[in-house]
Amino acid sequence: MQNSEGHFIKYLDDAETAGLKRGLRSIYPLSARECMVDGVDDACLDFSSNNYLGIADHPRLKEESIKWTNLFGTGSRASRLVSGTFAEYLDLEERIAEWKGYEAALILGSGYMANTGVLSAIADRKSAIFADKLNHASLNAGSMLSGAKFIRYEHGSIDALAKKMQIFNENRLAKTSDNGYRLSPDSAFDASKMVIVSDTVFSMDGDVADIETLAKFAKEKGAMLYLDDAHATGLFGERGEGLAHCGNANIAMGTFSKAMGCYGAYVACSKTVRDYLVNRCGSFVYTTAMAPGAYGAISAAIELVQTDEYCEIRKNLLDSSAKLAEEIRGLGFDTGNSATPIIPVIIGDTERCVRISQYLLSRNIFAVAIRPPTVPTNSARLRISLNAAHRREDIELLLEALEEAGRLC
Ligand SMILES: Cc1ncc(COP(=O)(O)O)c(C=O)c1O
Repeated sequence: MQNSEGHFIKYLDDAETAGLKRGLRSIYPLSARECMVDGVDDACLDFSSNNYLGIADHPRLKEESIKWTNLFGTGSRASRLVSGTFAEYLDLEERIAEWKGYEAALILGSGYMANTGVLSAIADRKSAIFADKLNHASLNAGSMLSGAKFIRYEHGSIDALAKKMQIFNENRLAKTSDNGYRLSPDSAFDASKMVIVSDTVFSMDGDVADIETLAKFAKEKGAMLYLDDAHATGLFGERGEGLAHCGNANIAMGTFSKAMGCYGAYVACSKTVRDYLVNRCGSFVYTTAMAPGAYGAISAAIELVQTDEYCEIRKNLLDSSAKLAEEIRGLGFDTGNSATPIIPVIIGDTERCVRISQYLLSRNIFAVAIRPPTVPTNSARLRISLNAAHRREDIELLLEALEEAGRLC
C-alpha cells in the first residue's frame, strides 16, 4: 500500500513545501453576502463565490427546484438517451435556445462535462484546436481528449493566433506538424476541422475576449468558433443571455452554476450539432440525466434573469465592479484588465498572497488565494468577486482591510 502510494505522497510533500498544497475548507453559506468559514467564529463577508447575481438561494429557484423534485422525484432514473428525458427538459432546452438566439440547445451535467464531452466529440485526430492560453482547464482537458493537434496562443492575442495558425498550416503542407510529428495518410489533417476555442470572460482574470474580432477571424479562416460563456451567462447580454450568440460563435457553451445560481451546463448550437452531440458526446450519452430539481432551478433562473429587475441589478453590479477595481488599483494593487465582477488582485508571490488572504480572513473577509497551477507561475492572486448582494459598507471594509494587508503582509 505504502509503496504504490509513494508518488502521491511525494507530490503532496512537494506541493506543501512550495506552499501550493490545496485542501478543502468547510463553509456554511448564510446569504450571498456572508458565510461561516471553518475555524472563524464570526460571519465572514464572502468575496469568493461565483454567485454574481446573488440568486443561489433565491426563493423562486428553491420553490421551482422543490416543485420539480415533488413531480419527478430525486433522480432522473436513466441517461437522457434511455428514459431520462422528460418533456419538461425538452421544453427547457427550447427556452434556452431561444434565449441564446440559437436553433437548438442541449443541457449537460456541468461545465466541466460539457467542455470535455463536446470538444472531444467535435474534434478528432484530423482536427486542430487553437486555444487561448488562459482558457479554463476543462477546455484544455476536452481539447486533449479529442486527440486533435492542440495549439495554444498568447492570451487575447489574435495576432499570435493568426501566426500560430499560419505556421501550423505551413508545417502541415510540409507533411510534418510543428512539433515534428509526421502526419500519416489516415490521420492527415482535415482543413475543415479547425476549431478556435476561447472563454468569453476569463475566470481568473475577469477580462473579456475580443469576441467580434475572434469571430471575424474564424470566419475568414473557415474555422469553427467555440466560446465558453460560463462567467458571462446571467451577467451580460440584454436579458442575461451572455456574450456568445449565433452571430459570433458556432457553438456557445455556458454554465448554470455561476451567475445563474444553479448547477448544470448548456450548449447552444444548430439543430445538426445538437443531433450530433446527442449521438456522439460521451459526457451526454454515458451519464445519467441531472436530478429533476436541478432542471427546475434552471427553469426559474432563466425566467428570473430576464426580468427588468435583473437587467437593472446586472447594470448596477457591473458599474460597482468597475468602481471597486479602480479603488483597489488606487491602493497600489494590480487588477489586470478586469471588466467584470471578477477582480484579480495580482500579488505574484504565492506565500505573500496566502498571507494577505489569511489577513483578510482575520478581518472576517473571505477572499481566496488562487495559486499555480490554476494561474501561471508568479501570478498568485486574490480572486475577489463581487455580487449583487454586497453593500457599499461591505466594499469599504474590504478596501480598508486590503490597504492594511498591503502594508503589513
Ligand atoms: C470558464 C469556465 N468554464 C467551465 C467551467 C466549469 O463549469 P462547472 O463548474 O459548471 O463545471 C468553469 C468553472 O469553474 C469555468 O470557469
